[in-house]
Amino acid sequence: MPTSPFPERERVDARDKVLGATKYAADIALPGTLFAMTVPATIAKGRIASLSAAAAMAVPGVIRVLTADDFPPAPAPEKGSPPPPPTITTEIAYRGQPVALVVAGTLEAAIEGAEAIRPTYVGDAFVPLVDSPGAVREPSEPVRAGDAPRVLAGSHTTVDRHYVSPAQHHNPIEMLSTTAEWRDGQLIIYEGTQSAGPVRAAVARTLRLDPAAVEVKSAYVGGAFGQKGAVQRQTAIVARAAMLTGRPVKLVMPRGQIFHNATFRPLSRHHVTVGAGADGRIAAIRYDADHQQSRKGQFPPSYHESAPQTYGVADYDGTTANVRLDTQDPGYMRAPHPHPSHFALESAIDELAYRLDRDPVAFRLAHHATVDPITGHPLSSCFLNDCLTEGARRFGWDRRTMAPGSMTLTDGTLIGWGVASGAYPANMTAAIATLRIGADGSTRIAVTGHEFGQGIRTVITQLLVRDLGVDPARLEIAIGDTSVAPQHTTAGSWGTASLVPVVEKAAAAMRARLAELPAGHAAAGGVHRQLAAARRPFLQVEVSNVGPGQDETALDQLRAGGSAKIGPEYPSFSTFSYIAHFVEVRVEPRTRRIRVPRVVSIADCGRVVSPRTAASQVRGGVTMALGAALREATEVDPRYGGWLNDDLADYVVSVNADIGDIDVGFVDRPDPLLNAIGAKGLGEVSMVGTAGAVANAVFHATGRRVRKMPIRIDDLI
Ligand code: MOS
Repeated sequence: MPTSPFPERERVDARDKVLGATKYAADIALPGTLFAMTVPATIAKGRIASLSAAAAMAVPGVIRVLTADDFPPAPAPEKGSPPPPPTITTEIAYRGQPVALVVAGTLEAAIEGAEAIRPTYVGDAFVPLVDSPGAVREPSEPVRAGDAPRVLAGSHTTVDRHYVSPAQHHNPIEMLSTTAEWRDGQLIIYEGTQSAGPVRAAVARTLRLDPAAVEVKSAYVGGAFGQKGAVQRQTAIVARAAMLTGRPVKLVMPRGQIFHNATFRPLSRHHVTVGAGADGRIAAIRYDADHQQSRKGQFPPSYHESAPQTYGVADYDGTTANVRLDTQDPGYMRAPHPHPSHFALESAIDELAYRLDRDPVAFRLAHHATVDPITGHPLSSCFLNDCLTEGARRFGWDRRTMAPGSMTLTDGTLIGWGVASGAYPANMTAAIATLRIGADGSTRIAVTGHEFGQGIRTVITQLLVRDLGVDPARLEIAIGDTSVAPQHTTAGSWGTASLVPVVEKAAAAMRARLAELPAGHAAAGGVHRQLAAARRPFLQVEVSNVGPGQDETALDQLRAGGSAKIGPEYPSFSTFSYIAHFVEVRVEPRTRRIRVPRVVSIADCGRVVSPRTAASQVRGGVTMALGAALREATEVDPRYGGWLNDDLADYVVSVNADIGDIDVGFVDRPDPLLNAIGAKGLGEVSMVGTAGAVANAVFHATGRRVRKMPIRIDDLI
């Protein structure tokens, strides 16, 4: 059973979403709710000299202004857990930082009150850019295997290039928001987050509350992409406002403030040297990466988390560094490290293939990886070559002519076909599930996990229908809610691989309980009828699951709101997901405008549990990558600090007119070791390598290598 493909099933929550019936956090309307608005700092660094609430309090409807005085000092550092974000402080670390919160009976009064507050500041000199004087380079742990410097010195052919990936901001449709309620000594937080458990732990720590007195509810999230993975700064601020006013308080952060306060994908620089031996195979890679970092930020520069394992190159020498300057904390944005690192690596490998006069697909196929060079452990599965072969077939790659500029339309339009691979760590986390089946036809599962559009509810439904034959129309799935199950961060593409085994276990435990019933063998008519026949109103089971190599302490971590993540290195193997992208670009002869009429993407995510939502994930990842490759970059304002293009008019994301056909396929072969079903992750690998394929296609069309994102018209004229 575990090795059979899953059938197509529509997204179980799609209908409610298109009807507008789904309640996102900011849709929660509690009686007596007050509305809040933050006051953003107008300097890039320094401290507040004076801040008067009087002008805001004079606005009709304004009830309270919270300042730094309303918050306890930052909690003492705790070993092994990152510090929660600061609340409102008088020290200013970045432009746009909240310096006050105005709470009012209406949103309009809150906005007017916030605009009336004019603090005075003492400004300090600040460092805006990675190459500004005062930026502090801080090297971190290198990643090494074999002896790349020696092998490169003896290489037959080398490519040595520099690449740049810009700062970018996530722009999910759902804004950051927090609605907090303080009732009978209990704090209830409604918020779009990927991290209900960690938010609970952080808010309790910040506000000196017992974690048992805090609940966080994030039933639906309207897009996340990592922006909602970190604990958000406004959460404890709004919670404190609810505690001080005794009324529910809601803040929906304007998009302009999100650009300055949310985490972002930092600018990163990549120096890649790839060497081939006389046999024409890649012999060694040297790769130095650094990225833009805040003064205290902890987002690591892990640019070697998938590049060494993609092509089985034994000699790899990778260094990384933070470049500390004055900005808000950078953080995780879909495929945080592999997206930029595979843009660099796949561009360099394409250059090497051209230097060796090898077809770029055939060249990649010649480097099948079986071993993780960093750990020496076998890869539990790697079907990247299946992805490349199937992608080439669907794309029609055999009709490609190798020379740049050799494929054109009669009107002079240049056609470019590019390929690139992607890999992403296959991670897992501990998870806990409670499953209850009723004789009345109802089923309820409460489990560790968050739904932000990736399709986790559909995945759960697939399993419960397959294993128990429950009625999907009467299936309630409670996730993202600390009051129903411990909640781990859902990120790093570990959602499906972590949930699938615990749901399977719950179903198996339920089958065992059903078999004990007097009517245990009268299974005809399904589980609900079986319960009715046995005169049992319901049955309930609770199960937990940990990843390979994890023990019970992972469950303790999960319950405490900490990290219970493992992977891609497991005790005796390493596991990655893979993808191959084939991209066609068309470059207009006069304007040099780049269009992408079609993409073929074939993924190896192990067993596909939900074909419909999996394909949608890949289309989303490719769409996001096309934005990254051709449009998106957030520009620092070096004069005043902060970001210049902090709205959707100037920060240009892909729209429908930019996206052509995206043909998605899957290898759909189970990983033999990661879990019983063999599911690996998909959400992030879907965008890894796409930008490299675009750059390679642009080279094929024009003969021009653009080694930075985004690739724009001005790079081609
Ligand atoms: Mo993902 S960027 O780890 O939510």
